[in-house]
Formats: sequence, structure tokens, C-alpha cells
Amino acid sequence: MTTERAELTARVLPLISLGDGSPGSLTAPPPPLPREIPATNRAQERFHVTGNAIVTGGAGDLGFAACNALLEHGLEGLMIFDMNPAEAQARVTVLESDFPHAKIRFLKVDVTDEDGVNAAVDETVKLLGGVSILLSFAGMVACGHALDWSAKDWNRVVNVNTIGGFLVARAVARTMIERGIGGSMVFIASISGHRVNFPQPQVSYNVSKAGVVAMVRSLAGEWAKFGIRVNSISPGYMNTILNEGDGLDEARKMWASRNPMGRMGEPDELSGAIVTLVSRAGSYINGSDLLIDGGQTLFM
Ligand SMILES: NC(=O)c1ccc[n+]([C@@H]2O[C@H](COP(=O)([O-])OP(=O)(O)OC[C@H]3O[C@@H](n4cnc5c(N)ncnc54)[C@H](O)[C@@H]3O)[C@@H](O)[C@H]2O)c1
Repeated sequence: MTTERAELTARVLPLISLGDGSPGSLTAPPPPLPREIPATNRAQERFHVTGNAIVTGGAGDLGFAACNALLEHGLEGLMIFDMNPAEAQARVTVLESDFPHAKIRFLKVDVTDEDGVNAAVDETVKLLGGVSILLSFAGMVACGHALDWSAKDWNRVVNVNTIGGFLVARAVARTMIERGIGGSMVFIASISGHRVNFPQPQVSYNVSKAGVVAMVRSLAGEWAKFGIRVNSISPGYMNTILNEGDGLDEARKMWASRNPMGRMGEPDELSGAIVTLVSRAGSYINGSDLLIDGGQTLFM
């Protein structure tokens, strides 16, 4: 796919092809909500979540809240991909007890392992059936002064946060295309992909998340014709393990002091946007990034 400089002028460009929205195609609008059912049912139907989902990083604080939300809205099958099996098992146990009718599983997957990711997506399809939703939460933080960042550090952060997300999305897209079912993908970018955080320096994390936002736009453009919508959300500072600890006291005060709402976000405050994006409510949302930050980026 890469081209040596000497061969550049002999290239034939691959071309993006677009959907045409024609009736029966994968980019057609959904049929109208039935008028004969009560308004409250139509409202529910608009935000109803159907089918099976893969949630990477679903053992983490934000991913787990999103798993809950999808199941509350009707998700039938859930597969968590995470590096941390102990945490994932504990989360699955809770979800199974709260949602006894759903099929809920996890696989130990490192999203940077290309073959492992492909095998895990195949196994998911065997266990649950087709996958129509992907939420990409797997990620890591990394702070440090730019003068100290090595190539190895950079590679690790970008590999997990950006390339890992791509590898899972590609494997899932292939199965969606094979089955002709389309679907919805939501990547978790960050305010750090839009602005520079203060006071903590974190250049590689910021670049990795800006990469997610750019990747989402590219994939949304390429995959719409298959009925796959791709979007991201960019959370602000959320109340999770990533922002805990006494060593972050001063930083937390500073973040709150620059936030118009004066606080961090709670994990479930991402759920409304996620449910919208993966349900019929989001049927024309594609290639977007939604800031969910209490207004942090206004003064960040
Ligand atoms: N917490 C915040 O303030 C905040 C803000 C913006 C964006 N985000 C993003 O949201 C996502 C989730 O963050 P969180 O706060 O829930 O953190 P978390 O640490 O609780 O969750 C991250 C999960 O990803 C998993 N993971 C890490 N590397 C992996 C890999 N290589 N393969 C598979 N799984 C892997 C971890 O085991 C963990 O369960 C991250 O991408 C993070 O960058 C978080």
C-alpha cells in the first residue's frame, strides 16, 4: 500500500465510492416509525438498541457504563474485549445478573495484536452471531514532558489508542460487509484530540486522540456505502481511575476551575450520546465527533 518515491508517477489511485441512498440500499433512510403504535412506544423505538455489540476496554470504568446503557436499551448480545480478564470477569458477572436475558461474554484481547483481534472477532461472530455495534474504549493515558518522550513511548501510546482501535474496526467492518448488515461504530476520542490539556503535558496522548478523530472521518467516508456509520465522542475529564489519586489533586482543582459546570463528568453521562449514535436516532449521523465535556474546551 505504500509506494517508493521512484514509483510514484506510475501509481493508479484507488477510489472511494459512495452510497446513493436509494430504496433498499444500505444508505437508505429507515422506514418511518409506525403511526399506529402509541407515541411513547415510538419514542422508545427511536432509541432502541438491537443486535450484538463488541465493546473494547469494556472492563474499564467508561466502557462498563456504556455496556450497561446498551443493555438497558435492548442489546441482545455483548462481547467485551479487554486485556484485564479479572476485571472483565467481575464486570460480566454484574451484567449477567442485571440482564439475565442477554448473552454476555468477554475475551482477553490486546487490541494491538492484529492476529489476536481478527481471531477474537471471528470467535465473537461464532458465539453471538453477527455484530452490528462496535464501541472502542480500549486506551491508555500517558503524561510526560515532550523533551523526555522516546520513539518507544510514542509507539506504545499510538499503537493502543489509535492503531489498536483501527485493527478492531477493520475486523468488525469485514464481518459486517460479509453479512451485508451494516452497523454503527463509536470511537472514544478525547478533548485532548482538540485542545492542549493544562497543566499536565501529554503530547503523545493528544496526538493519538487527534488521530482517532481524523481516522473516524476517513472510515466514515469509506464505509458508509456498506451501511456502516462511524463516529466518535470526545469526553472531557471523567470520574474514572485515569483521574484518581492524591497526586492529581491540584490538577483536578485546575480542571474544575476552567470548566463552566465546575466539575468532572460521571461515566453514565456519556451514555445518552452513545445510545443515540448506535440506535435509529443516529441514522444520519456519520463522521461526527461529539464533545461531551461540560464545556471544558471553551476555556481549556
Ligand atoms: N477518563 C477520562 O477522563 C477520559 C477522557 C477522555 C477519553 N477517555 C478515553 O476513554 C477510554 C476509557 O477510559 P477509562 O477512563 O474508562 O479508563 P480505564 O483504564 O478504566 O479503561 C480502559 C480499559 O482499556 C483496557 N485496555 C488498555 N489497553 C488495552 C489493550 N491494548 N487492549 C485491550 N484493552 C486494553 C484496560 O484494561 C481498561 O479496562 C480511553 O480510551 C480513554 O483514553 C477517558
